[in-house]
Amino acid sequence: MNKQTSWLDKRRGQVKHWGQALEQRMMAAQWRSASVDMLSFAFEPLWGAKQIPARVDAVEAEEGATHIWLRPSLRWAWPKPGQFVSVSAQHDGEVVTRCYSLSALDAANDRIRLTVCSVNDGLFSNNIAPQLAVGTVLKLSPATGDFVAPKHAAPLWLCAAGSGITPMLPLAEAALAQGQAVRLLAVQREAQPVLWQEWLALQQRYPQLLRCELWCSAEQGRPQIQDFSDRLNALPNNVEVFVCGNSGFRDSLQQAVQNAGLPMAQLHMESFYQTNTAPAVMDSADVVAKVSLSDGREIPVREGETILQAAKSAGVAMTHCCGQGVCRSCETRKVSGVVENLQTGLKQLRDGEWILPCVSLPMGNVELAV
Ligand code: FES
Repeated sequence: MNKQTSWLDKRRGQVKHWGQALEQRMMAAQWRSASVDMLSFAFEPLWGAKQIPARVDAVEAEEGATHIWLRPSLRWAWPKPGQFVSVSAQHDGEVVTRCYSLSALDAANDRIRLTVCSVNDGLFSNNIAPQLAVGTVLKLSPATGDFVAPKHAAPLWLCAAGSGITPMLPLAEAALAQGQAVRLLAVQREAQPVLWQEWLALQQRYPQLLRCELWCSAEQGRPQIQDFSDRLNALPNNVEVFVCGNSGFRDSLQQAVQNAGLPMAQLHMESFYQTNTAPAVMDSADVVAKVSLSDGREIPVREGETILQAAKSAGVAMTHCCGQGVCRSCETRKVSGVVENLQTGLKQLRDGEWILPCVSLPMGNVELAV
């Protein structure tokens, strides 16, 4: 009896402790969410729709990249490994938006990491990211993209060129934690590419499961289809192949997968890339429609132009990232008018519905709430 009573007391004490710990965690989370929202309040008018505030928690420099740790508001849905976000920052009174893959998901601390690789003349990578102060509030789109592991367990072959290595780390970590074998082929110009030390540390942690191969293109040249085929043929037939890199790299790997006779469903390619910022060249200069913005500005649209292309041609800044209808960072509410979505071929007729200006062709005059 005494023994049972003391067992019950102990269980009650444990439950009370867990309850208190949970309550404290929730209060901290609510405070954090509220404080992030309050911090962003002052900037609210400049941000795009559907973006969520995220506070800069740390900024780490590495040769060739800046790592930004962010604590998003709790309203932000936790991402899947391999997904990307668009992030907006204020710079010289303008909102600058870019898309980046998530290079780390720290669920225990509610933090995510963006790895911003340096590019020539990159405004975000060279001027904004390295200057970010801890506590700065940025805005994030919902995490998106289907560059994610399938639900069934399978070995992974991760093939990355250049900055394509950034989404691979969370994919590898998730697979390794479930006991799945992972092979990495990193094609990089440098002998010590971005994030490489983390890959080596991961390999030490999972020596039986993870093997990393660095192909240094400065010394070895570009890998050929046969190089990919040789590696693929040594892997099991149920391997899931993940490819992130430039179009030539993706095409070569697609060919290697075809040559190996693997189902295309086992090939996952990250086709997202930054849009060309140059105005589109059109055959006809005839204006066929106009897009009105809430501030009274009007954008002339020529035959065959999307709303985003027309805005660029007119020198009107419009939040966007991929330019392909993938990231949804351009999503805008249409007050009136009809557009054709070039991806789906469907006409969007209803007033007040959300459209993607980067893939929307106006079918007459259109009014946007932006
Ligand atoms: S810019 Fe990415 S969906 Fe429009």
